[in-house]
Amino acid sequence: MNQPLVIAHRGAKGEAPENTLAAFRLGLEQGCDAIELDIHLSQDGEIIVIHDFTIDRTTDRKGVVHEMTLAELKQADAGRWFDTRFEGERIPTLEEVFDLVPPDIMINVEIKDSYDRKLEPALVELMKKKDRVHNVVVSSFDHKSLMFLKLLLPETKIGLLYDFNPGSHVNLATGLGVPVYSLHPNFKRINREEIREAKSKGIEVYPYTINDEKRLRKAIAYGASGIITDYPGRLRDILADQGV
Ligand code: G3P
Ligand code: MG
Repeated sequence: MNQPLVIAHRGAKGEAPENTLAAFRLGLEQGCDAIELDIHLSQDGEIIVIHDFTIDRTTDRKGVVHEMTLAELKQADAGRWFDTRFEGERIPTLEEVFDLVPPDIMINVEIKDSYDRKLEPALVELMKKKDRVHNVVVSSFDHKSLMFLKLLLPETKIGLLYDFNPGSHVNLATGLGVPVYSLHPNFKRINREEIREAKSKGIEVYPYTINDEKRLRKAIAYGASGIITDYPGRLRDILADQGV
């Protein structure tokens, strides 16, 4: 029986404000194996956990993340927009997430923008400082950013995000010329045979973002190595139901 990793997308995004410590805690409570989150750089060089380029959608304030200091970003409430129960929640730094999440839980860090290649060296330094090099997978739609990371720190595990049909998923991974740990396709772009082929070459496959029960069951049956979902509790229940 396939035992995919339960990967909590932006934390338990379906039931808590995305990319906050509350969402990561809920994912952990629901038994996730891994957490996916998104990062940007602040004006003063801190690695910030947030999906969008601005704070407008997910906080009570407005502004461009890269043009704000950490102190300014910390003034925003990142929970109340989702539910008043989460009022007071702040935008976390990646360092705060590393401190919260136990070392046996994998963290999938998604680089949203490399900011003139300033983010990659900062990420390498933080992973080394917090002893997270081996249980972090860094993914991005920007594959050049991932190649730069491999140059800076060859043991970094990198994962290719994509939302197109590459022809051959395996060739997409091997064609980069550096070892690729995992493929992160939109689930619509990959089938059972392609997942099997990638895994047979030692490449993990973590499709995104799968939420409804029927598609979760399909991804399990296809043999995905991990499933990125807004509802880690729901996926955990389905796996338990299947005796996994
Ligand atoms: O990493 C999978 C998924 O998070 C990619 O899309 O927009 O949700 O970051 P997005
Ligand atoms: Mg993401």
